[in-house]
Amino acid sequence: MNEAPPKPLKAPDIDRVIRYHIQTKHHFNRYARSLGYLDWSSQPDPFRRFEGAPLIALPLLAPDESPRSPVYDALFRYGSVDSQPVSIRSLSRFLELSLALSAWKKSGASEWALRSNPSSGNLHPTEGYLVLPQSEGLDLQSGLYHYAPKEHGLEWRAAIPDEELARLMSPFPSGAFLFGLSSIHWREAWKYGERAFRYCNHDVGHALGAARVAAATLGWKMALLEGMEQRTVARLLGVDRSSDFVSAEQEHPDCLAVIWPDDASHDAGADVNPQEIPLLLDTSIVDALAAMTWQGKANRLSSEHGVHWQAIDEVATASRKQQADKRILPLTVRFDRDAATGDRYAPSSSASSAAQIIRQRRSAVSFDGQTSVTAATFFRILRRTVPGVEYKQAARPVPWDVWPYDPALHLMIFVHRVEGLVPGLYLLVRDPAKLPFIQESLSQELIWKRPLICPEDLLFYQLWEGDVRYVAAQVSCRQSIAADSAFSLGMLAEFDSRLQAEGAWFYPRLFWEAGLLGQILYLEAEAAGVRGTGIGCFFDDAVHALVGIEGITFQSLYHFTIGGAVEDRRLLTLPAYFHLNRQ
Ligand SMILES: Cc1cc2nc3c(=O)[nH]c(=O)nc-3n(C[C@H](O)[C@H](O)[C@H](O)COP(=O)(O)O)c2cc1C
Repeated sequence: MNEAPPKPLKAPDIDRVIRYHIQTKHHFNRYARSLGYLDWSSQPDPFRRFEGAPLIALPLLAPDESPRSPVYDALFRYGSVDSQPVSIRSLSRFLELSLALSAWKKSGASEWALRSNPSSGNLHPTEGYLVLPQSEGLDLQSGLYHYAPKEHGLEWRAAIPDEELARLMSPFPSGAFLFGLSSIHWREAWKYGERAFRYCNHDVGHALGAARVAAATLGWKMALLEGMEQRTVARLLGVDRSSDFVSAEQEHPDCLAVIWPDDASHDAGADVNPQEIPLLLDTSIVDALAAMTWQGKANRLSSEHGVHWQAIDEVATASRKQQADKRILPLTVRFDRDAATGDRYAPSSSASSAAQIIRQRRSAVSFDGQTSVTAATFFRILRRTVPGVEYKQAARPVPWDVWPYDPALHLMIFVHRVEGLVPGLYLLVRDPAKLPFIQESLSQELIWKRPLICPEDLLFYQLWEGDVRYVAAQVSCRQSIAADSAFSLGMLAEFDSRLQAEGAWFYPRLFWEAGLLGQILYLEAEAAGVRGTGIGCFFDDAVHALVGIEGITFQSLYHFTIGGAVEDRRLLTLPAYFHLNRQ
């Protein structure tokens, strides 16, 4: 489909993203550049709206209304969730469990909304879009919609002629629709300055993970359309339409995915096995769509902007995926039921529904410094972070079936309170092929001891023994959440080698993988009766020094902590959509 011959990788762009990465490290004596204080006069509105675009309210469904959620564990057993038809109700559920508000918090006169997807600083730079073709049972005009989380509604941005959309979607299974994400960098930059591009991409990964899991609750499959260049994503989502963003903050096109009901799970006779899913759209059709009638103008989020962080624009440009960058990917993914792995994983002890786990997910703001987890719980959580590279992509467990790349991130774990494991620093290697490379790259003084209680299928090693609470908190910008938990971790990415091999466009993807990891860790923590928190603030090179990383062979991109949470009882919690009744 409109493929151009590959061009050589652009080394200056790789240099640019590496420079950005180095420049945005936090150090013990110096944080990455930011304003250094919060300028409340320019605080961005957390809700993008397209003024003038018709808003279609989605039904607010009670938890026990149809479509009802399967138990959490069922998400990880291939084909065990009955597939729901795509309807306004199932779409409402999908969005509720991925990008919607999950609660309001109130303290004195301030009120702020939380969402199903977490976000650094609760700033929520990620915007969601749907491209919905006409389909039976879906009483909506076909076209492009922007999701408005505060209203739980769809803003109809563009009508797409039925025939055109049918042509665009013809390579996909029936019932398929598109899901897109974009980022408003300004929302994060307002608080975090130059480092914000990293956080925006963590959030993309979290949103992707949230969407993959939400789709799985409905028995839907999902594939990331990574064969496409970013220009096409921008065009389809309309975020390149400068006339609709005149005085409004730009949206950066991130990714597109296709989602479809997995009829194979209950219709054995259907001729849909295997499903060969293309990982790109026909660009000529997308280009033609730009001429359609658009509705609405993006709202301005901050009346004034203060400092503009040029480094973010530069890294965003350097890491844009272009035509030439498609070459390393397979351009289709084969969903073959016969290759399914079934449930390779020991079930968790939670009998909760998946929706319940998603709705109750919160970040712990502090931990009790006491709660431990059993070794069984600990290893079960770790297993869910491992894609199982021996399986074909589509047969990997949720959410890894959406991720078309081999794992690039490995977990450096600070064990504080795991029954049966001595405290210390450990490493989980997520791709066995990388073990020699990792061992060569880290300090030769590490002990690489496999604990006796470690399940055979996990490449889990003790690197050094000792109380690592102080050091974990110190390197996490001195945040005690990294020490008072049962364990915390840093995600070590194969950095230079992957960028050199794949190109600058892979830089955001390293953070997406980190966000996917974070999302599954959040949910697993809830399922285990404990709680997690993402940690974006850490002193980069101080982390690296712990395992002797010099240079940029490996870089820690995101941290996480899991343990017994202490609730902040001063905060009042209100239901997600109580405000709609109040108005
Ligand atoms: C990428 C990312 C980085 C984060 N970094 C930190 C952090 O360094 N310290 C912290 O206390 N919370 C951190 N958080 C948690 C957020 O503050 C939290 O997700 C947000 O306030 C929304 O709350 P919720 O997760 O309960 O919905 C981070 C979350 C994400 C997604």
